[in-house]
Amino acid sequence: MLSNAYGRFIDGGRAYEITDPRTPMPWVNVICNGRYGLVVSQNGGGFSWLDHCQLNVITRWEMDLARDDHGRFLFVSDLETGQVWSVTPQPCGTRHESYSCVHRPGSTRFVTMAHGIESSWTLAVPPGQTGEVWSVRLTNTTGRARRVRVAAYFEWCCGTAPDVKREFHRLFFTTGWDARRCAVTATKNMWEAGFGTPDDHWNRPWPHAAAMAVGGLDPSRVRAVADKASFLGRYGTPARPEAMTTAGAWKQDTFGRFGDACCALGGDVELAPGASIDLAYALVIEDTASAAAETAARLAQPARAAELVAASERDWEGRLSRSTVKTGAADFDLLNNTWLRYQAISGRLWGRTGYYQQSGAFGFRDQLQDSHVWLAMEPERCGEQIMLHARHQFANGSVYHWWNPITETGHRTACSDDYLWLAFVTASYLRETGDFSILARKARFVDEPGETTLLDHIRRAIDLSLARFSARGLPLIGDMDWNDGLSAVGTATEGESVWLAHFLAGILDDFSRVECSHGDAARAAEYDRRRGVLIERLNDLAWDGAWFRRATDRAGRWLGAKESVAGRIFLNAQTWAILGETTTPERQASAWASAKDHLLTDYGPLLLAPAYTEPDPKVGYITRYAPGARENGGVYMHAATWALAAACKRKDREAAARIWESISPPTRCADADKYWAEPYVVPGNVDGPLSDKPGRAGWTWYTGSAAWLNKVSLEWVLGVRPTWEGLLIDPCPPAALGQVEVARRWRGRDVVVRFDARTYEAGRTPRVRLGGRVLVGGVVREGDVPPGGRAEVEVDWVAGTGVAEAKPAAATAKGGRS
Ligand code: GLC
Repeated sequence: MLSNAYGRFIDGGRAYEITDPRTPMPWVNVICNGRYGLVVSQNGGGFSWLDHCQLNVITRWEMDLARDDHGRFLFVSDLETGQVWSVTPQPCGTRHESYSCVHRPGSTRFVTMAHGIESSWTLAVPPGQTGEVWSVRLTNTTGRARRVRVAAYFEWCCGTAPDVKREFHRLFFTTGWDARRCAVTATKNMWEAGFGTPDDHWNRPWPHAAAMAVGGLDPSRVRAVADKASFLGRYGTPARPEAMTTAGAWKQDTFGRFGDACCALGGDVELAPGASIDLAYALVIEDTASAAAETAARLAQPARAAELVAASERDWEGRLSRSTVKTGAADFDLLNNTWLRYQAISGRLWGRTGYYQQSGAFGFRDQLQDSHVWLAMEPERCGEQIMLHARHQFANGSVYHWWNPITETGHRTACSDDYLWLAFVTASYLRETGDFSILARKARFVDEPGETTLLDHIRRAIDLSLARFSARGLPLIGDMDWNDGLSAVGTATEGESVWLAHFLAGILDDFSRVECSHGDAARAAEYDRRRGVLIERLNDLAWDGAWFRRATDRAGRWLGAKESVAGRIFLNAQTWAILGETTTPERQASAWASAKDHLLTDYGPLLLAPAYTEPDPKVGYITRYAPGARENGGVYMHAATWALAAACKRKDREAAARIWESISPPTRCADADKYWAEPYVVPGNVDGPLSDKPGRAGWTWYTGSAAWLNKVSLEWVLGVRPTWEGLLIDPCPPAALGQVEVARRWRGRDVVVRFDARTYEAGRTPRVRLGGRVLVGGVVREGDVPPGGRAEVEVDWVAGTGVAEAKPAAATAKGGRS
């Protein structure tokens, strides 16, 4: 299914099997249960953490994607011949006789064959455990009896990463050997996390203890080493650890305070011809070494570990199946049903890491946007995310640009859009759930005692934004807006953002509605007034004849204008004019036509064109990227998803189809040697035309585009969109989707929507029928279905105008946006 030179989707798209490990870049899985997580690549590279993938890393890793030989590994050796190999391609560089790596939500399984021994190794992070389990089977496929040694191996980190000053860090470890439980333990007396208190520096212990246990081996034959050089051999290498072949090289006396802390754990086994042995490992974190060893030993039993692997896979299946789509396009279905959600939850919200970026912090706007992914599944979790971010706001309305959980330290900036996302995502939550009681929930501020309501938090954010305007009436860009790389455009009083104007205008519209019905009518009127003036100024000042300009710098020079040499046109300044309905229908049409002319490519919509080729200190670090890389004129996938929404909003089905096809990783990765990145998750960026490799994808997993592409697919392409009126059904589906069925929960009801995408025609009106009755405006309202009930909705398209058409943008009037 959707195969390429290196692998294919299996299990109806719910899993991906890599069959050739020599992928152009590491193809990884990020498995996190909300607390404990691990990343594992098809090479075996990766690392594990608890709660924070930078401040609380369990196993050491170095970011070296070219070598990809840092990780937790499983070695096997033949004690007769002295051959040593790894179950994964790294770190031994093993060329297996057969190889399979299956990544799926909740687990990764390697099945490889070397020297006649077949090894199966499954890693999983069971729900509710602060740890990981490995289920291992070795099979002798030869006709002769074999004596093999098996060992798990990794380096302890137990704290902040990277711990490059290793000779310093290693002085604080204590490792232990719990013979009864066959467990290696580790603690560390020092934790560099940085809580920002005066006596904190190098003066605080790592607050946990770790243990790795093995089960399935005869305990009397289990061996362990806790010092790296003792396992590798003097000046040895993980490509051929000496202790895998040398008799007597397993040193229990390497435990204690004086080694370079590692965990090597395994033993020797005899395998008759055709015989197998099942083993299990568990790596767990607890408060004390003895509790960790106890738990690890309990989980590291072969049958138990296999159960836990299955439990972790089931847990994800249950979570992801709460709303589903069925269409004629396999890539659309597998991305939306499984992978985009898994990426957004496991990678972004919980793990907060990928392989190209190890973060661990919460980005104020980032994880808020990611939490959209919950809305069609478990909307209350989006509500929790909103409240978490509200607690990271300052009393003047500003927020941390990002903050670290655990230490609660963060980066406060004069970024101009961060705080507005609190309003934006709350509006999404309200449209989805109708649960206005969230506005009365209380949260504190970072810098003030006492609590106040979410609505008050949002008002302070909007008020701050409304106070930060240029004299002529456009919002100031501050330290940056959505585009972090526009980092030098503004000062406290200069530099304006046109994208921000579109974005803010939409928020004013939403919150004037909210204030009108659940707050304060005078405030609602004021928001309307400000929206009206803003739209007027925006249209007077920022329109360039065929598109919207993007920003002004400190000298008042326009970015994204006809006369700009680099950065002549920016995508977000056009797409958000459509999404925010901030201009006339004519200008929307023109802005969209310009975006299509200048920015759509076969590998996705560019963020801007042409790319900056010289650093411009008055624009910011965006100009310092290689031309065509990331925000500098590449396809920035986060923004590309908004172009897909804008295409659908404009009922430009051809553009929607083209954009989908140009960004869909399974499709693009058909030519994996050009595309490079994983076909099952979205990349953060794809190189633009000035790169030497246009169309090459990178920065996978850690991108806000996963949740957004899922949202846009469901709400704009399939058109099942929560609005203030109810659940609007207004698709703009590419014909390739064929027969479509969307099944989702909505306000305690099951809603199933069916239509044939091939019968869609722009300009015709969708006729939305529920039990034979045509729904006014195409909207399912709560009153149409009893709580707990089920609505079967059919859609076809009929002549005439109506809801299917892009609504005329009411430049100042309210009520147009849905
Ligand atoms: C990064 C940031 C995100 C920002 C985007 C565009 O992904 O995490 O917050 O909006 O870049 O610059």
